[in-house]
Amino acid sequence: MYLLIPAAGSGRRMGSDRNKLLLPLLEKPLLAWTLSAARAAQSIRWVGLIGQPEDFQDFKEIVVSLGMTKMVHFIQGGATRQESVYRGLQALPAVAQRVLIHDGARCLITPKLFDRCAQELHHCPGLIAAIPVKDTIKVVEHSTQQITRTPDRRQLWAAQTPQGFEVDRLTRCHDEGVRQGWEVTDDAALFEQCGLPVKIVEGEETNLKVTTPVDLAIAEFILRQRGQE
Ligand code: C5P
Repeated sequence: MYLLIPAAGSGRRMGSDRNKLLLPLLEKPLLAWTLSAARAAQSIRWVGLIGQPEDFQDFKEIVVSLGMTKMVHFIQGGATRQESVYRGLQALPAVAQRVLIHDGARCLITPKLFDRCAQELHHCPGLIAAIPVKDTIKVVEHSTQQITRTPDRRQLWAAQTPQGFEVDRLTRCHDEGVRQGWEVTDDAALFEQCGLPVKIVEGEETNLKVTTPVDLAIAEFILRQRGQE
């Protein structure tokens, strides 16, 4: 299975002036945890690491330290996650039929979740890992700050990555997104906009996206717990 890792973001919401994926998490850069899980997943054979040129030297050092030099290919990212993934798709080898996409910032993923998604992707054109929401979600009118709706929680799932797709179809969805000016925060949204089916694979509660300093503290706690098990 081919895997693209979007890792070309910044550390703005983390309050950092550098890519948050290079911040230390238990003595290793955050990205090293994500890559370690990809290395341990039996289904993953090829990894495209999407980054900004100023981070490539640090990324290369991480890849070398993990002994993954043959597996990992470096791809220049874009201004948004959507653009970064689009560039990643264009950099896939021509033989790639299916691809998993996993955010570098979800560094607590387990190899098992990669493998479950990879296996399921042989039976459907598109899928995402997701978990049922625990909170009651409100739809709010931005200008008045008033609640307009409370959707039935039983129908709501929180999207995670990996997200997996047939490469040809996802590329065509991205092409259409560029033509129509769609702005999305995950790849499934492009598939959905094009009327294509996306299946849910049960994700992991610990597969959180490290976005703020609180997430970093939670990630550290979870990793320490795992270390003791
Ligand atoms: O900012 P956020 O954490 O939501 O980004 C999700 C993932 O997309 C991160 O792993 C980040 O590095 C990546 N990203 C990217 N290119 C961008 C912006 C974000 O690859 N221009």
